[in-house]
Amino acid sequence: MGVSRKVIIRCQSTPLAGSISVPGDKSISHRAVMLAALAEGTSVIRNWLPAGDTLATLEVIRALGVPVEVAQRNPDSWELRIEGRGLHGLRKPNVPLDCRNAGTGIRLLTGIMSGQSFSSILDGSEQLRKRPMGRVTEPLQRMGADIKSADGHAPLAIRPAALRGIEYSMSVASAQVKSAILLAGLFTDDAVRVYQPGPARDHTERLLMAMGTIITTQEGWVTLGEAPFGGRRLLPLDMTVPGDFSSAAFPLVAAAIVPDSDITIRQVGVNSTRIGLLEMLRVMGADVTISNQQVTGGELIADVRVKFSELHATDVSGPIVVRAIDEFPVWAVAASQATGLSTVRDAAELRVKEVDRIAVLAGELRRLGVTIDEHEDGFALEGPQRLRGTGVDSHDDHRLGMALAVAGLAADGVTLVDDASCMADSFPSFVETMQQLGASIEWVAAS
Ligand code: S3P
Repeated sequence: MGVSRKVIIRCQSTPLAGSISVPGDKSISHRAVMLAALAEGTSVIRNWLPAGDTLATLEVIRALGVPVEVAQRNPDSWELRIEGRGLHGLRKPNVPLDCRNAGTGIRLLTGIMSGQSFSSILDGSEQLRKRPMGRVTEPLQRMGADIKSADGHAPLAIRPAALRGIEYSMSVASAQVKSAILLAGLFTDDAVRVYQPGPARDHTERLLMAMGTIITTQEGWVTLGEAPFGGRRLLPLDMTVPGDFSSAAFPLVAAAIVPDSDITIRQVGVNSTRIGLLEMLRVMGADVTISNQQVTGGELIADVRVKFSELHATDVSGPIVVRAIDEFPVWAVAASQATGLSTVRDAAELRVKEVDRIAVLAGELRRLGVTIDEHEDGFALEGPQRLRGTGVDSHDDHRLGMALAVAGLAADGVTLVDDASCMADSFPSFVETMQQLGASIEWVAAS
């Protein structure tokens, strides 16, 4: 555990201005390291995110005997050189594999470790041990995996087993479940097919295709076909990780709600499976422009410009929810400033994120003076509401902490976000990046 720190936000209404970039995408950084480890040859991954969650994955990969060199070390952007060991070249670890707080890390690694010829244990922080793992262990066990868990939770003890193909229909669209199955599928010659009721993020599919694997997506079914003649193999990666849209979401909402703001976030990933928040904000009347679109490493990136404008309420439900699943804490802050009643439905998944992101979010927003109703699968709030600066707590949830900091930028008086060190799980330079835009925000030592 690092030293706990607080973030203090000292006043409202300083307009945000300027142009920034945000660190590399967390989802892609996890996947790139795992897949590069399984490739045949050396992968080069630029703009890799060195954050708490992804560093945990990097350490796991090293513990599995994969040489990783950090070729260039900037504070929030590393260039990695990973000597892939091939699909069958990982080494038995002599310690439990510690995924710390990373839900994506542990769930995807469960798929990979299920296909190994040695035993392993996947574990993590107390917070991670509370998150449900049954959603991945159940389909993997149907593929033949030998996984023992503590009542559907980490630690997971995985023993060697022969895997077979599966046709699996997810009741809730989840990229982590889909990815765990596809990754386990690399260790069987059979086809694996996963049905997703809505388009969950598709970075695993894109990376696998960049590595020479054929994946098809048709009418909701994602298919990794039978192994080709000669067996499966992955080519190494040579790629640049796009900026993380889920990190960009914080300055983006801040600029949309702090009067007179005008900011541009450069070179951020705008994969359609990730930008539900952008669509929701546009429906609410936000002034958002996308320019300079390019494709890098199979992913669409662009510059996103946001100017302050009056927002109005909207209702969110159905397939867009999974495309904005990590953005609801900060979207709730936008909704509190929008005129009318905003509601979210079909988002029960929020209850099993780093924390129960419905109950905890509602509790912390109430401390800032917001009236908000909780539903089993979402929440509702009527705006615009005056935010009153006060002490709030991240509950060790990076995205909740940053959303509360954004609320502080639109609040009267001083807001103090306690337990803020967790912001580094996904966006280590959050405070400094907001400062670059002129935000009145700084670190203070926890008393
Ligand atoms: C992620 C998938 C999402 C998301 C998480 C990252 C991923 O979880 O909330 O932050 O990288 O696959 P679910 O797949 O459980 O929706």
